[in-house]
Amino acid sequence: MEVNGATHTLLLDNRCTLLDVLRERLGLTGAKKGCDHGQCGACTVLLDGRRVVSCLLLAVGLDGSRVVTVEGLADGGTLHPLQEAFLAEDAFQCGFCTPGQLCSAVGALAEIREGRPGLATGEDGPVPSPAEIRERMSGNLCRCGAYPAIVRAVVGAAPAVAARAEAAALTPPSAPTGEAG
Ligand code: FES
Ligand code: FES
Repeated sequence: MEVNGATHTLLLDNRCTLLDVLRERLGLTGAKKGCDHGQCGACTVLLDGRRVVSCLLLAVGLDGSRVVTVEGLADGGTLHPLQEAFLAEDAFQCGFCTPGQLCSAVGALAEIREGRPGLATGEDGPVPSPAEIRERMSGNLCRCGAYPAIVRAVVGAAPAVAARAEAAALTPPSAPTGEAG
């Protein structure tokens, strides 16, 4: 499995979830265990570019998959535009939901760019409007109630995220590095 650009060869109990492998085996504790039942979104990561709740996925079924966690969103020392926007909007209080919110926002904005409609999509098609973001990220709960700032951050970062995705599409992918686990 490739995680944040590094290849990991793992021998696993077939009951291990992706979340437990990330946290307990690979030391990537950004994704959080909130409910462990697929209901809070705190464990959200990107799997082959799509957002998933990692507490509901068995890791043995992900052989050869590409996973990106919150630790992999920044580009070296440069924060992802959504991370910058969360800081600028003060879009957290305790921060427990934040890694999941960030990964979910990356996935939600990608879905909008691809034109995938959601329940709040109007006649103009999917756009990163507050209503669209609220609906698409309704599976990510924030116990502190930072929702207004989270929505502002995601809507505000959408153009920069789109530009980053466009630039990445023009750059040839680099080979995965490392071997661990
Ligand atoms: S911990 Fe996975 S959805 Fe809550
Ligand atoms: S900032 Fe505390 S749960 Fe979201």
